[in-house]
Amino acid sequence: SNPSILILPGDGIGPEVMAQVTRIIDWFGDKRDLKFDVETDLVGGAAYDKHGVPLSDETMARAMEVDAVLLGAVGGPKYDNLDFSVKPERGLLRLRKEMDLFSNLRPAQCFDALADFSSLKKDIVSGLDIMIVRELTSGVYFGEPRGIHKEGNERVGVNTQRYTESEIARVARSAFELARKRSNKVCSMEKANVMESGILWRDVVQEIHDAEYPDVELSHMYADNGAMQLVRAPKQFDVIVTDNLFGDVLSDCAAMLTGSLGMLPSASLGLPNAEGRPKALYEPVHGSAPDITGQGKANPIACILSFAMALRYSFDEGEEATRLEKAVEKVLADGVRTADLMGPDGGTPVSTTEMGDVILA
Ligand code: NAI
Ligand code: MG
Repeated sequence: SNPSILILPGDGIGPEVMAQVTRIIDWFGDKRDLKFDVETDLVGGAAYDKHGVPLSDETMARAMEVDAVLLGAVGGPKYDNLDFSVKPERGLLRLRKEMDLFSNLRPAQCFDALADFSSLKKDIVSGLDIMIVRELTSGVYFGEPRGIHKEGNERVGVNTQRYTESEIARVARSAFELARKRSNKVCSMEKANVMESGILWRDVVQEIHDAEYPDVELSHMYADNGAMQLVRAPKQFDVIVTDNLFGDVLSDCAAMLTGSLGMLPSASLGLPNAEGRPKALYEPVHGSAPDITGQGKANPIACILSFAMALRYSFDEGEEATRLEKAVEKVLADGVRTADLMGPDGGTPVSTTEMGDVILA
């Protein structure tokens, strides 16, 4: 049987950008004989409207069974005043939690045609292609104890950075596996100078390296220095592996090396199943963009590049992933732009569907 994909377009521009991905999936079936069994379902506000919950149990169960989930975006002003337990974001959080997606892949790749959009000088980012692997299910965002309590006359806010060996080991493995598919180089970032969890992080990453991935080049760096180096000379890196908090900050920082939010894909991976395929959720970094919903202005490239990541990391179709990425690179080099990619000198932007058309062509 064909590999299976569950598509969850979600809210706002989610369905608009996902429509272009669906066309691309069909193209691969027709032209490359690469066929997928695709089903589509609801998540976020769209699921709340129909079922009263942002992710139904049936949809959750399908997400656990398929080979990859593609998600558009969730949320929007219509749902801002809902109870926390049924907010659209909770649908996404439930997927991440129950699929145990501990490894969050955020590429920062600079398309030459867009280098002028970078916050940095062109020669610093031109040709940049790095990958930040962020631990996504543990660390200070989840550690106990947590809360706000009273001590004497004042309030104290508490969070706990906590990592077990096995949590560090599995995300380290995921980074080393990835490095083997790229340029075989990993830099691990923590603050081992001031944090116990950082000392353990450094030890465990080194142990996993020595025992299982001695062929991969490994270095360690303090995360604050890492932030400096990302802005000073980002091309020194290939894969960066780091914890949840540092990864949150460093990946947003790296994202701006490359320009528009409409360009940024992501993947979240869990443990591999019997066939060696990790549980996987692919989604653009951007949200539902209510300010441009329904206007045909959304840039579908972040969502399209997320599907390219699915081809590479879930389906072992690296060559086909590259084919798709090259198509995106070509249309950008040809000067085709959605509105979010227009420079100050203007020009005529293409619509979401037109961008899909030229990429397919
Ligand atoms: P956003 O990412 O939706 O939009 C930020 C700005 O970037 C807006 O001006 C928007 O028009 C623009 N933008 C975003 N994606 C674009 C694209 N593909 N093409 C062209 N322009 C694009 O973030 P915002 O405004 O903070 O949040 C809007 C809603 O999305 C909220 O309900 C928020 O909770 C939700 N959200 C959902 C996420 C997800 O589903 N993973 C992530 C971030 C926000
Ligand atoms: Mg962030």
